[in-house]
Amino acid sequence: MKKVITIDGPSGAGKSTLAKRLAQQLCFQYLDTGALYRAVALYLRRRGYDEEISDDELRQALQEVKIEFSSGRVYINNEDVSDQIRTPEIGHYSSVFSARVPEFLLDTQRSFPEKHDTVAEGRDMGTVVFPRAWKKFFLTASVEERAKRRFNQLKEMGKSITFDEALRDVKDRDERDAGRAIAPLKVPEDAVYIDTTDLTIEETLNRIIRHLNSDA
Ligand code: DC
Repeated sequence: MKKVITIDGPSGAGKSTLAKRLAQQLCFQYLDTGALYRAVALYLRRRGYDEEISDDELRQALQEVKIEFSSGRVYINNEDVSDQIRTPEIGHYSSVFSARVPEFLLDTQRSFPEKHDTVAEGRDMGTVVFPRAWKKFFLTASVEERAKRRFNQLKEMGKSITFDEALRDVKDRDERDAGRAIAPLKVPEDAVYIDTTDLTIEETLNRIIRHLNSDA
């Protein structure tokens, strides 16, 4: 297995931007596990399922699908769905279904660093998926700051959303991500914890690089 750097944290903490930049700078591959969860949600929604899906229906549906992540793009049965997964609806359902799919996605995630040094971003990277990762980081920010970032991001993408909706969405997701029985969002014991509320992307990136250099 190659080197793995894990970046975990709640929704809107700046993980994706950071993980992408870090991977670029170090010439590592970037693994966006949120994209895998979103692809599962899109696939289930296309088949007409919602939170009422039974365990049997879920097991059956997942047997018939191949979800892959490669070169920054995510695929459902070889169809590139990287753009379709970036909607508030799929964000919502990825969180709703997330408690019931971590095991299904485990092999896909773990096989990624067999070939490449990897920056893996998600909720349970350092705790469950890559407990023996080379370096672990946990990024967070205040709820209001994360809602502001989510709001601005969706606005930039031309999506209609109010700040209050973004705030509610961030709070709901926090509850679901931290409260689920399997692979809940937790700070890994051996992770470097960074509160990014008052930090720019550049400052956060510099802190991460400093940590990597200080105990390389
Ligand atoms: O990071 P994101 O918003 O793209 O993630 C979408 C959802 O997927 C998020 O609400 C929780 C879930 N998720 C997860 O449970 N475990 C991961 N490793 C990554 C994402």
